[in-house]
Amino acid sequence: MNLILRYMTLADVSQVAAIDRLAFDLPWSERSYAYEVTESTYSYMVVLEAATESSTQGWRRWLLPVNGRSSGRRVVGYGGLWNIMSEAHISTIAVHPNYQGRGWGEILLAGMVRRSLALNAGYVALEVRVSNVRAQNLYRKYEFETTSVKPKYYRNNNEDAYDMRLALTAGARARFNDRYAALQVRHGFVDAYSDHEPPRRHPVEPEY
Ligand SMILES: CC(C)(COP(=O)(O)OP(=O)(O)OC[C@H]1O[C@@H](n2cnc3c(N)ncnc32)[C@H](O)[C@@H]1OP(=O)(O)O)[C@@H](O)C(=O)NCCC(=O)NCCS
Repeated sequence: MNLILRYMTLADVSQVAAIDRLAFDLPWSERSYAYEVTESTYSYMVVLEAATESSTQGWRRWLLPVNGRSSGRRVVGYGGLWNIMSEAHISTIAVHPNYQGRGWGEILLAGMVRRSLALNAGYVALEVRVSNVRAQNLYRKYEFETTSVKPKYYRNNNEDAYDMRLALTAGARARFNDRYAALQVRHGFVDAYSDHEPPRRHPVEPEY
């Protein structure tokens, strides 16, 4: 499979928001994503992009209703990372429901952890619903640990959140680097995100 991990751009926002609405009970607005990619100075938004098949089977079955286009490369998952002081915070992560369970969520998570390492973060934090065992398994696979419970964190049903953290110690960094190398071999994806600087957010006006 032809996969690229890269920075999210404004052009991706409608596809990202469509996946978000399928994946979450409380989706972000398109305006929120637009802010993250054009204005926020601490945001490192990522997408996983895949090649579409040429036949009308497979990819196009779900891509057409989502964005009305029929060919080329398409966003199949996305994530959000904030870097504030020495804390990296994963704000969101999702894979299109038709394509979950293929290791693509793992690519997104690993990409954001690697980006956090490049930013010299001391740890990576995130919140996850206590009922979301699937996501928790993914985070535990990458050595995240539950550090506390945030009561009634989610406003739609008052569900509690686990605060999960990965301390980026020297040992954790070394183990992560091995795991990341193995992941790249397994999926053969191109990484244009985790060790690249984000595109310029505020274009500088030319001086005359
Ligand atoms: C959570 C999510 C991003 C994982 O992405 P994915 O592509 O489905 O997961 P992957 O195929 O990369 O699996 C990676 C690991 O996740 C865990 N996992 C994945 N599917 C699972 C399942 N059905 N049951 C239990 N654990 C599962 C496993 O630890 C798996 O590793 P393994 O294959 O070595 O066992 C995806 O399921 C999703 O988008 N869910 C909806 C949105 C969401 O809940 N986001 C998290 C918010 S905190």
